[in-house]
Amino acid sequence: MCGIVGVLGRHEVSPIILDALKRLEYRGYDSAGIATIHMGALDRRRAVGKLINLSDLMVHEPLRGRSGIGHTRWATHGGPSVANAHPHRAGRVAVVHNGIIENFRALRAELAEKGASFTSETDTETIVQLASHYLDEGLTPVQAARATLKRLDGAFALAFLFEGEEDLIICARRGSPLCIGHGEGEMYLGSDAIALSEMTNRITYLEEGDWAILTRNGVQIFDAEDHQTARPLTQINAAQARVDKSGHRHFMAKEMAEQPAILQSAMASYSGVGEGGIDLPEGLDFARADRLIMVACGTAYYACQVAKYWFEQFAGLPVELDIASEFRYRAPVLGPENVAIFVSQSGETADTLAALRHVKPHVAQVVSVVNVPTSSIARESDMVLPIHAGPEIGVASTKAFTAQLQVLALLALRAGRARGKLTPEEYAARLDELRAAPGFIAQALDREDEIRRLTEILAKARDVLFLGRGVMFPLALEGALKLKEISYIHAEAYAAGELKHGPIALIDKDLPVIVLAPHDALFEKTVSNMQEVMARQGKVLLISDAKGLREAGEVPYSLQMPTVPDIIAPMVYAVPAQLIAYHTALHRGTDVDQPRNLAKSVTVE
Ligand code: AGP
Repeated sequence: MCGIVGVLGRHEVSPIILDALKRLEYRGYDSAGIATIHMGALDRRRAVGKLINLSDLMVHEPLRGRSGIGHTRWATHGGPSVANAHPHRAGRVAVVHNGIIENFRALRAELAEKGASFTSETDTETIVQLASHYLDEGLTPVQAARATLKRLDGAFALAFLFEGEEDLIICARRGSPLCIGHGEGEMYLGSDAIALSEMTNRITYLEEGDWAILTRNGVQIFDAEDHQTARPLTQINAAQARVDKSGHRHFMAKEMAEQPAILQSAMASYSGVGEGGIDLPEGLDFARADRLIMVACGTAYYACQVAKYWFEQFAGLPVELDIASEFRYRAPVLGPENVAIFVSQSGETADTLAALRHVKPHVAQVVSVVNVPTSSIARESDMVLPIHAGPEIGVASTKAFTAQLQVLALLALRAGRARGKLTPEEYAARLDELRAAPGFIAQALDREDEIRRLTEILAKARDVLFLGRGVMFPLALEGALKLKEISYIHAEAYAAGELKHGPIALIDKDLPVIVLAPHDALFEKTVSNMQEVMARQGKVLLISDAKGLREAGEVPYSLQMPTVPDIIAPMVYAVPAQLIAYHTALHRGTDVDQPRNLAKSVTVE
């Protein structure tokens, strides 16, 4: 995923664009660039790597102009290089782009036939070469942009800047988010409202297929059929959009520490006059549902995997669960009484959005659990349940995971009541346990110093194995993902019972094995799997509660969690999984908030 920005300003725009790109850097940081129009002339600066490199370049080679576009890149076609960095330029036009142009090879060949010479390996350059070609054929900038958009297949959010046009940016949205910011005598565009939050909180979100003509007087928006249309002007909560580290060393550290408060306030957002003091959107119809379909990616998928246990246990509802990138390419059996739940922190993950579109015509209800209620996935759902986690900037998802679990638990309990599987007393008791989660998560966070010491050993490992049973199996998967994505150590997770069917061959004295095992109904079985590991000199770290550690006997390493009700164990045990990854990464000196090769939300398939 990449981040794009555009500004039609009253003053020099380069500093404004650089600042906006800083707030988009979590979307990708392989390269960055800016193009401006100054005295009618189009010029640009580009640099490989993080935004700081572009800032440094522009100190020595400043870029003048009051209109400009900017980009921070997560490489899809063509590796990180200056030549592949956006903005791409051809003749009198420059473009910045987030997404993938799926027919770029055919277009590239067609344009090369017509004499176009390409200077990059990117799909994006095709866009600007096409627009330049139309300009050379005598089309106006608006006509050239429009004609270009009609030729593109795939997903994009893009912005054009034209030489000689000091008061014009043309932008378009198809499959990737794009919003317009309204200033005083200035206009802006950005991949999300966070990028624009220092300039304005008056935002218009373009809809799928929209394109727009920006001038300093305002914006004209056209739908996919070129009919002029209007989209709502919303006032975003500037505080909510503003992001900073609040004194923490990393966004990830801040976001882990926020979890108790976030869960507390998120639960309050769902408090009301409904049964058990919880209000969920009207129309949620689990009583008639014959099956639940849950689709997501990455950490969000592991939240769904935990929720599968809850829906089956509390509501007797069969759950079909799949990762979005696989789901759509199977022949999933869908039915008119199915309810589909899509979970996504960003609400922009292309695989998840594509799966939602695939499912929507065939099921009773599409429900999304997201952190961005204005996101594409939210807008295309029948019902949206925000997780209220606030902006999550660290690429490794933490507070969004526990907040997703909280909302999914509320849904599972509500389904249990709707389907007569939970008595009012059982429902109320489980809700009380959920409301106690923030306090227990705070206690888990208090073990950070102990975890920091334990990870000194882990940081030297080449491989790490996570084990868990029941809801602790998806937690083991989540722990392995966190460790992989920020420390770059190979880690994998297994259902503890599955170890003896092959993976136990991996066990030796050099392999750290992290066992997540609260003293629950599966504890004894997990401990016997753990003992099989210890019998083969596996270096076990057992994460359990007081009773579990007492009953497990001697283990090489242990970490004590508070004793918690089963329903909140996944949220509480997420904390050691997060902190283990975080401190291992610190020991290894990797980039915690912006790990190599990653981006915060993957808006390409
Ligand atoms: C989680 O730490 C990862 N960054 C990644 O797996 C992420 O959860 C996944 O890409 C899904 O993102 P989403 O929740 O925004 O859809």
